[in-house]
Amino acid sequence: MVVLAAGLGKRMKSARPKVLHEVCGRPSLWHVLRAAAAIRPERLVVVVSKERSDVSDAVATWSLRPAPAFVDQGEPLGTGHAVAAAKKATFGAADVLVLAGDDPLVTAGDLRRLLASHRRSGAAATIGTALLADPTGYGRVIRRGNELVEIVQEVDATAEVRRVREVSTLVYAFRRDALYRVLPKVGRANRQREYYLPDVISLLKAGGERVGAVTMDFGGAMGLNSRGGLADVSRVMRARIVAAHEANGVTFIDPASAFVDIDVRIGAESVVGALTFLEGATRIGAACSVGPSTRIVDSTVADGAEVTFSIVRGSRVGRDASVGPFASLRPGTVIEEGAKAGTFVELKATRVGAGSKVPHLSYMGDATIGRGVNIGAGSITCNYDGYDKRRTVIGDEAFVGSDTMLIAPVTIGRRAWTAAGSAVSKDVPPGALAVERAEQRAVRGYDERKRRAHGGRAPGGGAGKGGRNRG
Ligand code: UD1
Ligand code: CA
Repeated sequence: MVVLAAGLGKRMKSARPKVLHEVCGRPSLWHVLRAAAAIRPERLVVVVSKERSDVSDAVATWSLRPAPAFVDQGEPLGTGHAVAAAKKATFGAADVLVLAGDDPLVTAGDLRRLLASHRRSGAAATIGTALLADPTGYGRVIRRGNELVEIVQEVDATAEVRRVREVSTLVYAFRRDALYRVLPKVGRANRQREYYLPDVISLLKAGGERVGAVTMDFGGAMGLNSRGGLADVSRVMRARIVAAHEANGVTFIDPASAFVDIDVRIGAESVVGALTFLEGATRIGAACSVGPSTRIVDSTVADGAEVTFSIVRGSRVGRDASVGPFASLRPGTVIEEGAKAGTFVELKATRVGAGSKVPHLSYMGDATIGRGVNIGAGSITCNYDGYDKRRTVIGDEAFVGSDTMLIAPVTIGRRAWTAAGSAVSKDVPPGALAVERAEQRAVRGYDERKRRAHGGRAPGGGAGKGGRNRG
C-alpha cells in the first residue's frame, strides 16, 4: 500500500504541507493512514519529500501498525513520479494500492471493497470513483458495468460527458507487474509538466488490459486542494462522526452545528446541544448534557454532568457536576463529583472538592478547595503578585463570604468562615471567622443635610418630591 504525501499543495496558499491540514482534529494524512492501516496491509509505504521532514515527523508520532516505511520522492514531479519512487519499497507484492494523503474521506470499508473487486475481476487496475455534487475540474468516469471504458478530462469532455457526476479519485488498486510495466511510459507533456498517475490507466487499456471501477462514498466532497475543499471535506467528516455517535445512543439537538473531533468519545444517553464544539482528546460520559454554545477541549466530563454556555479546556468535570452558564475552566482544573462552577466563573489550575460550589462571579486560580465548601459571589484569589503565582488552600466545609479577596499564599481552615468583603492575607484557623474590614458607622441625618445643600432637590437629577430619577 502506497500513500502519496509529497505534494506541495500550492493551491492551499499555506506554509504547511497540504496533507497536514487538519480535518476534525487530525491531519488529513492521519485519516488516510488510519483507513489504510485498518485493512492490515503487508506493507505501508508513505511517499514524502525529504525536504519536508514535518510530514514524516508527524507520521512517526501516530504509532501506526504496520509501522510505515518512508520513501523520498525528491522533487515532487507528479503523482506518477511519486508512485515510481515507491517501486523498490513495494517489491514482491502482487498488488499495490495507491492512496492520496489529501483525500481523507476514504474509509477502510471502501478499500476492502475496492481490493475485493480488483482481485475477483483480475483487472490490471481498479479505480475508486466518487459521485460529486459539483464534478467540475475532475476526470469523468465512463463505465460499462463495473468496467471502466474511459476517464475523460474536463478539457476533452463534451457537454454530455460534463454532466457525468462520477469522477476519478486517486484511490487505485494495481497489479504490481502491470503498474511498473507501463509507468515508465508516462510522460510529462501537459500543462503542469508533471507525471500523472492517471495516464497509466489509458496506457493499460491501450495495451489490452482490463480496468475496473468501484464507487466509493466521499459524501459529495473530495480532496483538500483549496480552503473551500478543506471546508467541504470537514463538513462530510463531521456528519459521519455525528452519525456514529447517534448510532451509539447520543442525541444531537442540531447535528449541523455540532463540531465533534474524530478522537472524542461520548457515552450513551448524553445530549449535545446546538453550536457545541467537542475537541481533541475529549471524553464525555453517559447521560451528560453539554451545550448549547459550549467548547470543550482535551477534557473529561463524567457521567451525568452538565456543561452549558461554557468553555472547558484541559480540565476534568466529575460525575453529576455542573458548569455554567458562562463559565471558563482553564487547564488543570478539576471539578469533583456533584460540585458546581456557576455563572461568570473562571477557574484555573483549581480543584473544587466534591459537593462544593463556586456559583457566581468568581476567579479561583491555583487553588485547592475542599469538600462541601461555599465560595460567595464575587470572591477571587489574588494568586499573582506580578512575579509569582501562589496557592490558596480552602479546607472542607469552609464558608467564604461574598467578595472575599484571598491573597495567596493563604490557607482557610476546615469549617472556617470569612466575612463578606474581607481581604484575607493571613491563614484562618479551622472553625474561626476572619473579618478584615472597617467597622460600619451610621452618619445620622445625612440625607436631610445633603438635600438642604442642594436646595431641597432629590439626588440623581430628580425634580424633588415624587420626581423620577432620570439618571
Ligand atoms: C489527483 C488526480 C486526479 C484525481 C484527484 C482526486 C493526478 C494527476 N490527478 O488530482 O485524477 O481526480 O487527485 O483527489 O494524479 N503528490 C505527491 N507527489 C507529487 C504530487 C502529488 O506525493 O509529486 C501527492 C500529494 O501530496 C497529494 C496527492 O499526491 O496527496 C494528490 O496530488 P494533487 O496535486 O492534490 O492531485 P489532484 O490535482 O488533486
Ligand atoms: Ca488532491
